[in-house]
Amino acid sequence: MKNLRQTIDDSVAFIRTKTKETPKIGIILGTGLGALSKTVTRELEIPYELIPHFPVSTVESHAGRLLFGTVGVKKVVAMEGRFHHYEGYSFKQVTFPIRVMKALGIEILVVSNAAGALNPQFSKGDIVLITDHINLQGGNPLIGKNDDELGPRFPDMYDCYDKELRELAIQTALDEKINLQRGVYIGVAGPNLETAAEYRFLRTIGGDLVGMSSVPEVIVARHQGTRVIGFSVVTDMGLADALEPCSHEKIVAAAEKAGPILSKLIEKTIKRMKV
Ligand code: HPA
Repeated sequence: MKNLRQTIDDSVAFIRTKTKETPKIGIILGTGLGALSKTVTRELEIPYELIPHFPVSTVESHAGRLLFGTVGVKKVVAMEGRFHHYEGYSFKQVTFPIRVMKALGIEILVVSNAAGALNPQFSKGDIVLITDHINLQGGNPLIGKNDDELGPRFPDMYDCYDKELRELAIQTALDEKINLQRGVYIGVAGPNLETAAEYRFLRTIGGDLVGMSSVPEVIVARHQGTRVIGFSVVTDMGLADALEPCSHEKIVAAAEKAGPILSKLIEKTIKRMKV
């Protein structure tokens, strides 16, 4: 069986038959945030199913292709559709594209997602800059034999969400008059939403947001030395004492509604990045 590095090499070799670009920035487009992909001037799209060793996305709101193009003058590669552990993929599969994007040249990963708010000061539709995370997904993509050429056995999570990039986003939001909250994201496995007691627990342990993605990808990004910036769109209020019925459809609709603002913020922030 091939090891991780060989599978990365296979994927990159295939992608290299389509493009010679070396994007410096990778973007993960979260649930309902298809609008974000419009900020990317597309030069090439590769469906995931064509790329060796790429998992194939099963959630309807995720299109499943790798986009190459530019945001302003910055070369980017974007995942239109991501993989979740609840779909049945291992954490290594979920994070495989992050490995491939690094091998293609990225230095910065921009993560986006839809999340429930645990912080009562947030509102549905708010954009939140992720300042930190708590991994409650029940696993870790780095478990198993470590390849020291990909990253260290015990990666440090200091400054996991890069301080300089966070400051760039905050300044950009100020200049663009976009209201930007800040908060800690808790990654859970899903696929069910939380019980009231679970939302209360997640708030108590220090969360402002809860969602079913991002944490594994960010762990792998940090393992391989990729700088990270992350944004959530608040799609529902996870307030234990004021809980209302929710559904995946409502979450997608709320994410789509806020998508254009988040797209603008990400676009303007990327344009200011020094890569
Ligand atoms: N819980 C978990 N994941 C989510 C939520 C939520 O309330 N909203 C969007 N993703």
